[in-house]
Amino acid sequence: MYRISELAGKAGLSRSTLLYYEKLGLIAGRRQANGYRVYSEQDLQQLKLLQQLQAAGLTLKECQACLQSRIDRASLLHRLHALDEQIAAKQQSRALLAALLGQASMRPWHQALERQAPGAHLAWLRTQGFDEKQALRLKWLSRDMNEHEQYMADFERIFEGLERLGPGSAADTLAVLHALPAMPGTLLEIGCGRGVSSVLLAEHMPGRVTALDNDAYNLACARQAIAAKGLQGRIDLLCASMTELPFMPGQFDALWAEGCAYIMGFDDALRYWKGFIRPGGLLVVSELVWLTDTPHAEAARFWRQHYPDMKPVEQRLSALARLGYSALHHFTLSPQAWDNYLGPLAENMAALSGQAFASSALADLTRELEIHQQYLGEYGYHLFVLQAVAHGSL
Ligand SMILES: C[S@@+](CC[C@H](N)C(=O)[O-])C[C@H]1O[C@@H](n2cnc3c(N)ncnc32)[C@H](O)[C@@H]1O
Repeated sequence: MYRISELAGKAGLSRSTLLYYEKLGLIAGRRQANGYRVYSEQDLQQLKLLQQLQAAGLTLKECQACLQSRIDRASLLHRLHALDEQIAAKQQSRALLAALLGQASMRPWHQALERQAPGAHLAWLRTQGFDEKQALRLKWLSRDMNEHEQYMADFERIFEGLERLGPGSAADTLAVLHALPAMPGTLLEIGCGRGVSSVLLAEHMPGRVTALDNDAYNLACARQAIAAKGLQGRIDLLCASMTELPFMPGQFDALWAEGCAYIMGFDDALRYWKGFIRPGGLLVVSELVWLTDTPHAEAARFWRQHYPDMKPVEQRLSALARLGYSALHHFTLSPQAWDNYLGPLAENMAALSGQAFASSALADLTRELEIHQQYLGEYGYHLFVLQAVAHGSL
């Protein structure tokens, strides 16, 4: 026979817990003539059995039911599923902690945050000490703050010497230029990359071209391309960010942005850039869009991870109208435009395939190329020729 304090010591429970169990009928003490409660060996064993059931994750109520009648399989199954969910949540917490400490990939976390809260994601990256250029590249390219520098070094190695950094063709660019209602006197090209369109535009329009990018290597390539055509006097090159344009309001007749609006977010870019276009001026902008409502699951999954803001053309058009633009013309870039970009890129990658890469940059681009090979056509680059109109919810 045990007194309550002895039973508590043997079972590793408090006195008040035992009294509560007694109230629930899980143990049954007997009061002696001297007023003390005593408990039997059977009570102690009942407590051990109860503790075993609790170790399986059962609540006290479920334990009680198991002790008093046959095991209820349905409620045990329910408990098992609940436990699995708790384990999965804990594993996620663990993975995130390990990732934040640099012990595992941060990629799933960055991707989930980009889908759910892109603005907060960018702001948080800045808090972690990344400047704006790094933070934007991290969002769109490396997607892992722990391997960002190595990733970007590898990425730049793969893109070295390429003329185009996105799909485009001289035919598409010139067709758009010649279809504009009037030739722009002043034109700003945003995200000009290595200057392929800047050169074409300057060659085919009478006005002045300002070409802006925030990457020194790209600008050096653009400078060479411009000099090779003797166009130094016609194009001003500028190293600045598309998010903080160093110009006067309404300064340009036209803005031109191929394959770069997504970097600051398509809607945000169009909202902000409109301030630099004179009233009635033009914006030519290209954007990755869905061309089908029913993409293959693999393509949908890939783009959900890599560009969650991709939309069908119709949705972009209605947003453009809300932002104060009227669409004069729009079309999907030709397969040639993609070949001009992907062909040289694939050649560079093939030449580097035997070499060691410390980051996943080459593997990621290989995967992206596979997706393009299989699913291009379900999505594509769309070029919008827009006129800035007075109204719009800016
Ligand atoms: C996909 S590339 C497109 C380049 C070029 N328009 C073309 O089609 O070849 C995007 C360009 O935007 C530039 N870029 C990225 N972030 C930028 C920023 N915040 N401000 C200005 N340019 C930026 C990159 O350096 C790169 O040249």
